[in-house]
Amino acid sequence: MTECQPAILQAVPPLARYVTYTLLPGTDPAVSLRALAKLVDGEHTVAGLGFSLTSMLGHEIEGLRPFPEFSGFGLDVPSTPAALWLWLRGKDAGELFHRQREIDAEISGAFRKTQLIDAFKHGSGRDITGYEDGTENPRGKKAVAAAVSSVKGIAGSSFVAVQQWEHDLARFNAMPQTGRDHCIGRRLSDNEEIDDAPESAHVKRTAQESFDPEAFVVRRSMPWTEGTRCGLVFTAFGSSLDAFEAQLRRMLGVEDGTTDALFKFTRPLTGAYFWCPPIKGGRLDLSALGL
Ligand code: HEM
Repeated sequence: MTECQPAILQAVPPLARYVTYTLLPGTDPAVSLRALAKLVDGEHTVAGLGFSLTSMLGHEIEGLRPFPEFSGFGLDVPSTPAALWLWLRGKDAGELFHRQREIDAEISGAFRKTQLIDAFKHGSGRDITGYEDGTENPRGKKAVAAAVSSVKGIAGSSFVAVQQWEHDLARFNAMPQTGRDHCIGRRLSDNEEIDDAPESAHVKRTAQESFDPEAFVVRRSMPWTEGTRCGLVFTAFGSSLDAFEAQLRRMLGVEDGTTDALFKFTRPLTGAYFWCPPIKGGRLDLSALGL
């Protein structure tokens, strides 16, 4: 039976590594991908393939495309595509380190690592600002409908949008508490939604039911820190990339000129889309790519 990579439907783990790879010039990735398929169970290790990789294999994955870059209204949203994305999930930093080295060695014939981000779960699943993240995620059957494709040929697969955001915490913390709550649109104290928050409030911009069609995604974002730097690895799974893209456009003010208040204190450093193949028999099913 073909199923989605199970971690997509699970809560975020205590620790994770986000790793991206580029394809080495002049190499055939088939051998590396077959080796990778055996190492990816979709639960401890989640994998996503970028447009550059699927297109060079000569197989179109319907709906997969490069991440759109955007510049305007004082904002730059970069597109930083990659051939391969891995999300290593666990609870022991040493085990994650060794698992990642093993995978790197297995796929080194065709792939070279381009970025590695260590991420973690903060409290009950909070952004590093302290605000709970993931409250309005669809659950159960609704999560499956939002995150898993039923399109013939790629049924059981998912798409993911990944952006590393860097927060300016000093700037955020310099705002009064109500100003911070109004940025998010929820109160830090009890996580309640603020009905009369400004239109720029993040949850007003992204309210999933307010789109036509409704734009539900399953968010599994995790905070990162590096020395004094910090932010969020925003991670949203969808049955297609359309819901995420509609939300991002709204955040940027493309429709009405109102930009998301999040931009008062945080910026995306990266942005990429990946196709997350299904799992069959406990390993990655790459049959849609002829592998
Ligand atoms: C630094 C970046 C971001 C931070 C810190 C952040 C934080 C949050 C927080 C605290 C909430 C409220 C609780 C919840 O329902 O999860 C939320 C909601 C949400 N965010 Fe974000 N977010 C970020 C980026 C994004 C991006 C880039 C998107 C999509 C383009 C997005 C989509 C959503 C959606 C769909 C909701 C739920 C809205 C609803 O239906 O109520 N977020 N986010």
